[in-house]
Parts: sequence; C-alpha cells; structure tokens
Amino acid sequence: MKVAPAHRVKGQLRLPGDKSISHRAALVAALANGVSHLSNFSTSHDCASTLSCLQQLGVSITRDSDILSIAGRYELTKAVKPLDCGNSGSTMRMLAGIVATQDFSSELTGDESLRTRPMQRIIEPLELMGAHIRSQERKPPLTIQGSRRLKTISYKMPIASAQVKSCILFAALRADGYTEVIETSSSRDHTERLFNAFGVPVGKKTTSDGNSVVSIEGPARFTAANFLIPGDISSAAYFVAMALLLPGSELIIEDLGLNPTRIEFLSALRSWGANITTSDVRQECNEPVGTIRVRSALAATPAKDEKRILSGSMIPGLIDELPLLAVVGTQIPGGLEIRNAEELRVKESDRLAATVKNLRAMGAEVEEYDDGLAVSGPTSLRGALIDSHGDHRIAMSFSVAALIAEGASEIDGAECVDISFPEFFELLERIVER
Ligand code: S3P
Repeated sequence: MKVAPAHRVKGQLRLPGDKSISHRAALVAALANGVSHLSNFSTSHDCASTLSCLQQLGVSITRDSDILSIAGRYELTKAVKPLDCGNSGSTMRMLAGIVATQDFSSELTGDESLRTRPMQRIIEPLELMGAHIRSQERKPPLTIQGSRRLKTISYKMPIASAQVKSCILFAALRADGYTEVIETSSSRDHTERLFNAFGVPVGKKTTSDGNSVVSIEGPARFTAANFLIPGDISSAAYFVAMALLLPGSELIIEDLGLNPTRIEFLSALRSWGANITTSDVRQECNEPVGTIRVRSALAATPAKDEKRILSGSMIPGLIDELPLLAVVGTQIPGGLEIRNAEELRVKESDRLAATVKNLRAMGAEVEEYDDGLAVSGPTSLRGALIDSHGDHRIAMSFSVAALIAEGASEIDGAECVDISFPEFFELLERIVER
C-alpha cells in the first residue's frame, strides 16, 4: 500500500463496533439463555475468529444486515476440529476460560503469530481452578480438558492484562462460589460492565494498598440481551492523531466508546496541547459513548523542554496506542519516552522492535530499551518502506507517520489492518485532502 503525504484531514466519521467489546458481547451472549441481538458488531477479522469458534462449539449465529443474533446455550458441544483463533489473542485467552468449564477437551490454535504468544498467564489460573492444559512450552496450540466442577480462586495478577482477567471471570461464571481477581494496575473493564449488563453482578472494591479486586459469585445463569456496540476508540486513535498532526484539520467522530479504561491516550494527547473535546455522552451497552471533535493543535503547543514520559500505571490504559504515540512523540517538542511497556514485545509482533525499526527508517532519532523507547522531537520524517511485521497496529500507526512525512511511503503487508479495522484505508481516503 502506497501512502502519500497529506495536506490535512476534514470530515465526520462513525466507526465499526469496538473489537474488545464485540468479542466479549459475543462470548457472553453465547452463554445466555435466549437470543441476543448485537448491532454495530466489529467488522474485524479477530472478532470473526471468535464467532466461528463459537459456531464450532454449537452456538447458532445469524446476521441480518447490521444485526447479529446469537442463540446462547448453557452447555456447549465439543468441536470436531481444533478451534482456530486466527491472529486473535483475545479470542484464545477468553475462550479458554469458557471451554475450561465444559466436560470435554478442546484444542485451541491460531496463526503463526498467535502460536508464538505466551499462554502461561492463562494456564496457571485455569489449572488452579481445576482444568488440565497441555501445550508445547506454554504456547498454542493448547489442549484444554475442562470440567463442570471448576474450583473458585483468589488470583493476584502477575501482569496487567484484561484478557487474563476476563479468562478467569468467564471460568468463574460456572465455578461454585466466590472467585476474585486482584489487579495491581487496572486493565480495561468491558467484561465486568457486560456481565453487569446481562444481569450477573460483579463486585468491585479497592484495597487499602491500592489494588483493585473484581469478583463474581458462580454459578451464574443469565438471559439474553440486546446491545448497540460503541465505535472502536482504538481505531479512532489513528484518525485523532492525523487530525492533530496535520495543520488545518478538523474531525468529528460520533458514537464512539469512551470507556475511562481506554481513553488514557486522549489524556496524554491533551496534556501535550491537543484540542480534543467530548460531547453528547450517554450509555450504550453499559459503556459511555459520545462524540469527539479534534482540531489540529500540537504544532501550536508552546515548546517545553522537558521530555514527556509514559510509564507505570498509565501503560495498561494506552497499551494498544503506544506505537502510534511514539509516532506522535517525534512531533512534540522535547520528544517522548515510553517505559514499563515490555508487554509490547509479546503482542501480534514485537511492537517495540517494529516501532523502533520503522521510525529509524523514516529518519527519527530513537533509543530502544528492554521495556520501552525514547524518541527525539520535533523531527521531520521522510517517506520510507515500512515493514508492518503483519501487525495491524504497526501498519496503521505508520500510515499516520506516512501522511506527515516528506515523500511517499510504502507499507509492506498493509492488508493486516483487516485484523482490527478493514475499513481503515477507505475511511482515510474519505477524509484526507492532498
Ligand atoms: C485486550 C487487552 C489487551 C490489548 C488487546 C485487547 C482485550 O491485551 O492489548 O489488544 O480486549 O482484553 P492484554 O490483556 O494482553 O494486555
């Protein structure tokens, strides 16, 4: 895909449903009593992987224009073939918590990238609950022997991960009694919100030492529900960054999910001088949804010499936006440092290495750390050949970089944007002025 520099972006957008919420809505609906109707379901290939795995487990799913109907069932049926989670870590990790509660064995596999990703993080809690899991070096494929009589646990998370927390909560839906997950840094809370929306009470408290504890009482029976999935804030992030970086831009994005555990990147951008306003906030799917308006502004920010740092407890709230923020960091006075982000090394690609390599190809000055990176700014970027590493977030982050560069860029493997956002390039062409 060739991406030429742009003059500015202008327009109004509405985005497909949030990927994280769509996965969860499909999974919860698959276990509910009755038929749930979900509109604006994510168009991502990752969520299609979740739906096809559920169908293999005997869940009936139909689509009528924008409405996805999912007929839930309390007992699933054993799949005849391995469950292919594609590129989707969310599918594998959350589905593992569900098949662990069934009295049969399931094999979960995925593409080349997913088969390199760490699964010890879900194997440990699920085995503590009584499931038996076989794997090669704690990586997929996983063979999970489930049980209808899983034990409850109190589990302190060794890393901040919403996928792991959700895996345990899905398993706990069928365990007999009180299960709790203790987080030292809070991760996205869509599972908790959806469980509540489906009528499963989720306990939430903060301990005196600042940890948050999420709990549920199993076994839980619940009925189907209908939801409109909010627009995907992580997909919006690329358009927000374009509008900020290209002078004279103005963009409005409507019906966008504004969950506080997902909008840390907006706070970071605002603290760097970005002009982003929010309006019309309401609740959909037990999630805040609203309109954002972005006007280019970073260039007008008064120069401050100190380096901006993203680190510590901020990281889980903007984990998927870090490659994009590194691109933005090349344009802000004093540059940007990212630390405590070692999780980026085990995403769909090693996102720290991929970001550093591509930023250097565009002429940026970058230092790489085990747990992060530092970029100098402001720097002019030049068009380059970008290696997406087959990673959707790298392809989209560097498409933004290409718009502000001097000279055209080529994104190798750009079709990987389909993993989260198949409409990305089409919508980009709709708003860009060259
Ligand atoms: C996700 C959680 C994050 C994120 C991923 C989606 C989710 O992963 O990076 O894109 O939907 O729960 P971790 O839970 O591994 O941090």
